[in-house]
Amino acid sequence: MTQRYAIILAAGQGSRMKSKLYKVLHPVAGKPMVEHVVGQVEEAGSDRIVTIVGFGAEKVKEHLGTRSEYALQEEQLGTGHAVLQAEALLKDKEGITLVICGDTPLLTSETLNDLFDYHQEKGAKATILTAVAEDPTGYGRVLRDDLGIVTRIVEQKDATSEEARVQEINTGTYCFDNKMLFDALTKVGTANAQGEYYLPDVIEILKSEGQIVAAYRMKNLDEALGVNDRIALAEAGRTMRKRINRKHMQNGVTLIDPSNTYIDVDVQIGSDTVIEAGVLIKGQTIIGEDCFIGANSEISDSKLGDRIRVTSSNVEQSVMANDSNIGPYSHLRPNSEIGERVHIGNFVEVKNATLAEDTKVGHLTYVGDADLGKNINVGCGTIFVNYDGKNKHRATVGDNVFVGCNANLIAPVTIESNSYIAAGSTITDDVPTGNLAIARARQENKADYYDRLPH
Ligand code: UD1
Ligand code: MG
Repeated sequence: MTQRYAIILAAGQGSRMKSKLYKVLHPVAGKPMVEHVVGQVEEAGSDRIVTIVGFGAEKVKEHLGTRSEYALQEEQLGTGHAVLQAEALLKDKEGITLVICGDTPLLTSETLNDLFDYHQEKGAKATILTAVAEDPTGYGRVLRDDLGIVTRIVEQKDATSEEARVQEINTGTYCFDNKMLFDALTKVGTANAQGEYYLPDVIEILKSEGQIVAAYRMKNLDEALGVNDRIALAEAGRTMRKRINRKHMQNGVTLIDPSNTYIDVDVQIGSDTVIEAGVLIKGQTIIGEDCFIGANSEISDSKLGDRIRVTSSNVEQSVMANDSNIGPYSHLRPNSEIGERVHIGNFVEVKNATLAEDTKVGHLTYVGDADLGKNINVGCGTIFVNYDGKNKHRATVGDNVFVGCNANLIAPVTIESNSYIAAGSTITDDVPTGNLAIARARQENKADYYDRLPH
């Protein structure tokens, strides 16, 4: 088997992004561009992956971890110079090397494999992945001779007006004979408009040495997008979302308005779940079957079971078990665990709390830092008072407790199972099983008072 290597170029700052964040770390559908690229390269199959890092090297390494080896490009002298930094790791290896940019997040493993196959079929020493663009502005143009054979790539800034009219673009992705690549790179100069070592110059060099150079024109132009600025970033997001949404619909998820549904790339959704417009589902979220996610809900890094209803609510880093529901207008903040059949109604905030099965928190309530048992009814306007100005404290409420409306439960406090809290109580002491706790001033009725007031 031919050895397959991959070099991912990710050392540039991305000045056209005008950003403090390094270009390849800008997320598309919730994942940094360079992670999309590495994922597709892994899927295509590669014996070794080397990522060229420079600007933000540590941050890029943090994201990719052990999925890649790294070579540092201290000064960004161009894409040719970038690839040369992998010399010490790969130079003497027999095999085929895929070079791909960290800013082309839409390329798929299928296309990379097609490129690889084409390269081998043609017996080429270099094969460029190209696409025909309606508007080729900004890309390198692929020049061919009268017979249609590739001669070289010319960058936009170096192109004559005639060359600039060529619509076939270089996607920045190539297959090379590994040894020839590193040999040719030593011959690349900087005599161009940007004074950089251009990787595409390798094509002309190999050509002049009589080697076979090929170009594989890919079918799906959308994949070719190189993200150099925020406009392209938005376009990449749009294309990626379309792809993600199609996959979910094919898997049996109903999206009422796919063009207004924002699902990150790693999200999993079960069949027969219905998602309304304006919904955002982010990060590592898993949603089960037969759920309903209503308009304008936002769910991130959470796990939802089956038959769950979320209506116009936010769920963050939390878990909802089967048949539970929330909303409208409620918020699960991080570390909330909602049991089976739990009902959370409107204007409820839950944070760092567990609610066991069949418990109900219907209206206008704050549940922070608390453990609630089963089958509890929390009345409207209840507040779990968890903060004393300095420290957070936890409250515990046992099974079958009835908490009357407008109660304050001042933590740390334990309400044992099968007990009652009277409405309007401010509870500071533990409540034993079977008790009714009333903690409010007694009512006094003053007779014949009404007529004494002026009216
Ligand atoms: C490059 C190609 C162009 C192609 C386009 C496709 C060159 C000279 N031009 O242009 O033909 O049409 O991609 O999107 O190769 N990088 C480094 N070190 C450097 C410079 C760049 O690692 O010194 C990395 C960047 O982080 C980026 C990638 O290489 O991920 C491409 O660089 P970029 O500046 O975006 O090149 P383009 O102008 O897009
Ligand atoms: Mg680019």
